Amino acid sequence: MKLFDVYPLFNIQPEKAYGCYVYDDKGEKYLDFYGGHAVISIGHTHPHYVERIQDQLDKIAFYSNSVIIPIQKELAEKLGKASGYPDYNLFLINSGAEAIENALKLASFHTDKPRILAFEKAFHGRTSGGLQVTDYPKMRAPFNGNDQKFLPLNDLAAVETELKKGDVAGIIIEGIQGVAGIVEPHADFLVGLRKLADQYNAVLILDEVQSGYGRTGRFFAHQYSGIQADIITVAKGMGNGFPIGGVLIHPKFKASSGLLGTTFGGNHLACAAALAVLEVMEEENLIANSTILGDYLIKKLLEIEQVKKITGRGLMIGVLLEGGKQVRDNLLSKHKIFTGGASNPDILRLLPPLNITKLECDMLLDAIRKEVMVMA
Ligand SMILES: Cc1ncc(COP(=O)(O)O)c(C=O)c1O
Repeated sequence: MKLFDVYPLFNIQPEKAYGCYVYDDKGEKYLDFYGGHAVISIGHTHPHYVERIQDQLDKIAFYSNSVIIPIQKELAEKLGKASGYPDYNLFLINSGAEAIENALKLASFHTDKPRILAFEKAFHGRTSGGLQVTDYPKMRAPFNGNDQKFLPLNDLAAVETELKKGDVAGIIIEGIQGVAGIVEPHADFLVGLRKLADQYNAVLILDEVQSGYGRTGRFFAHQYSGIQADIITVAKGMGNGFPIGGVLIHPKFKASSGLLGTTFGGNHLACAAALAVLEVMEEENLIANSTILGDYLIKKLLEIEQVKKITGRGLMIGVLLEGGKQVRDNLLSKHKIFTGGASNPDILRLLPPLNITKLECDMLLDAIRKEVMVMA
C-alpha cells in the first residue's frame, strides 16, 4: 500500500528533535521557526514531557469515557487557572477540527438556531463543520455545499445585518488568523462582536487552535481585547505534538448525557502530555518569553529595509518580504531554518517553540539579512 499523496513534501527526513532543533537522517541540524505548524509549544522532546508520558504509559494509556479518569479533571483545573477561565467546563477531543465541530454544534444546540457567521480568509479545519466556516473554496467538496457567506473582518455593520435575520447561532473568529498570513482582528471589533452576540442571543466562539496556549504572549490572543468568549477552541500547542484538542465552555451551556462524545478524546496519555505542557509553561515562564522574544524579533525585523510589513504578536509573526517566497526557500535550503508559509507566498510565518532564545532569534535574523542582501 502507498500513501495517499496529498502533501507537497520537503526532501527532509527528521529523525530526532530536541528543544528548538530538528535533526535529519543525514545528521543535518535544522533550526525550527515553524514548530511543525505552531504545534511545538514547550520545545521538542522536553525531558519533563517525555518522563510524564512514559510514566503514564507504564500505568494506563487508555480507557473509554465510560469510567472515571481523574487526570482529565486535573487537566481541566490546571487549564482553567492557566488560561484565566477557571469557571469554564472542558470537553476533550483529539484535534483542532474536532474542537471546532463540537463548538459549532454546541452553539447550535444552545440557541436552537442553525447558522454560524464566519470571516473572509478564515481557516477552521477540514471536517464538514470546519470547512463550512473556512474561506478556502478549493478545500471544499461538492458534499460540503457552498452556501456560507464570509463577512469582511472588522466590519461590525456586516455582522449586525446578518444577526438581524434571527437565525444565527454563533459567530466564529480566530484569535489571530493564521493561514491567512497572521491577520489580527481589531480589539474594538472583538469588543463589538461580544456586544452584538449578547444582543442577538448568539454564541461567540474564539478559535485559538493556532493563536492560543501562550503563543502571542497572553494565554489566548483574544485576551488582548479584554473580552471573554463563550466558547474557546484549543489544540496544536496543547499537546506539544501529542494529538489533543479541547473546547472551553461557558458555564451557561447545559451539559446532558450523550450531548457530545468521543472515543479517544481525553485519554490518559493525551492528558499526561497536556499536563506536562502546562507544567513546563509555568515552570519556565514561556508566555513571558513569547512576549519578550516576540517584541525583540519584531523590532529587529522592522530594521530590515526589504521587510514591508509585520503582523502578529509574541511568537506568532507574519513577515511580508520582497521576494518572501524565495527567502523562505533559501532559509531552509541554505541556512537550515524552517519557517512557515501563508496563503500569500511572500509572507513568512514565524511560529517557533515558545522556549526559543535570543541566540536563535539572532540566527534567524542574520540569515534573513543575508538572503535579502543577495536578492537586492
Ligand atoms: C485556527 C485553526 N483552527 C483549526 C485548525 C484545525 O486544526 P487540526 O489541523 O488540528 O484539525 C487549524 C489548523 O491549522 C487552525 O489553524
